[in-house]
Amino acid sequence: MRTQVGIVGAGPAGLFLSLLLQREGIESVVVEMHSRKYVEERIRAGVLEQGTVDLMHKLGVGERLKLQGLEHGGIELRFGGRGHRIDFRELTNGKCVTIYAQHEVIKDLIAARLAAGRPIIFAAEDVSVHNLEGASPEIHFRANGISEKLECDFIAGCDGFHGICRPSIPAAALRIFDRDYPFGWLGILAQAPPSSHELIYAYHERGFALLSMRSPEISRLYLQCAPDENIANWADERIWKELHKRLETTDGWNLKEGPVIQKGVTGMRSFVTEPMQFGKLFLAGDAAHIVPPTGAKGLNLAVADVVQRFSWWMTSLLHRFASDNPFDERRQLAELDYVTSSRAAAQTLAENYVGLPME
Ligand code: FAD
Ligand code: PHB
Repeated sequence: MRTQVGIVGAGPAGLFLSLLLQREGIESVVVEMHSRKYVEERIRAGVLEQGTVDLMHKLGVGERLKLQGLEHGGIELRFGGRGHRIDFRELTNGKCVTIYAQHEVIKDLIAARLAAGRPIIFAAEDVSVHNLEGASPEIHFRANGISEKLECDFIAGCDGFHGICRPSIPAAALRIFDRDYPFGWLGILAQAPPSSHELIYAYHERGFALLSMRSPEISRLYLQCAPDENIANWADERIWKELHKRLETTDGWNLKEGPVIQKGVTGMRSFVTEPMQFGKLFLAGDAAHIVPPTGAKGLNLAVADVVQRFSWWMTSLLHRFASDNPFDERRQLAELDYVTSSRAAAQTLAENYVGLPME
């Protein structure tokens, strides 16, 4: 087999790239290790920047997004028992973010690619990349038990943080910049109408909490936890109790509960590889960089590389660190006060959150 661009991974980075190339008349083949069903059901991010939404419309895959996406013109920062709204539209000349689950984006991108008769090879086994510095790099894999060799002009490594593309680059050719955080997020998906129209980011002495959503019927909620937290120790009842405590306000706001339909622990990391190219292999998305989820950027970053500093800043602002002393606590609260009372500070948060221009 031969193609112009061999793409490893059918996540947001690989699929967006395949449609962008298609629009330019460039051929590609996507090679994905999991089944179509698996990638279309994998629960991950949910906040799309304006630029990501605009790109979906430009690529002709925005129909369901237009019908089902929930536009949010702001977020709430909650601390000291009170909520403070950051008004994105007012602070960014009318921009907003859209709530639309990552796996729905994936479904739309896959459907468009297959409708155009372009190949995605699902459930590929033993994927490896070769001859990266030669004229014709290759992707090797097995599909339906048969060994295949795909010759390419270029390879796009869009296979996520744990993929094989980045480790195929000689270690001496890469520089890694990273930071580990001393906490993770315990996330649940619940069959409960969201208790707020907009996302709530709560700073609390017991740790960070986030109220998000996927639809008018489904809530997505997170709790700061230990990085190696054992989910087995968290019965649904304990999760709800902790969420109530961290999201509580002094004016009697009420958190609506419902059956928990999915739960898990996500690690937090900042990570950037430099350079993102070796020979004819180009890394994109999580294969090249990871951000902690507090800035809601991971998926958008797979589309545009812009936001390490913002995600680090928002994570440091809202979480409790074991090393915190009373000075740090007061400093965080002072910063939250500043962000929620100064137009200049709120505007900095707002313009980063809705997305800086891609160009
Ligand atoms: P991925 O989406 O990881 O796609 C990579 C693809 O490559 C996958 O389909 C994978 O199966 C495939 N692949 C891997 N190895 C191989 C191989 N050897 N051969 C072939 N294919 C391979 N971000 C947020 O902003 N908010 C969130 O709430 C959030 N939650 C997350 C929860 C989890 C559990 C994870 C893992 C990530 C989360 N993220 C979140 C981050 C966000 O989902 C990612 O940044 C985004 O998916 C990156 O897209 P990508 O295309 O680069 O990588
Ligand atoms: C989510 O809905 O999963 C979500 C929202 C905002 C974030 C992170 C995750 O910052």
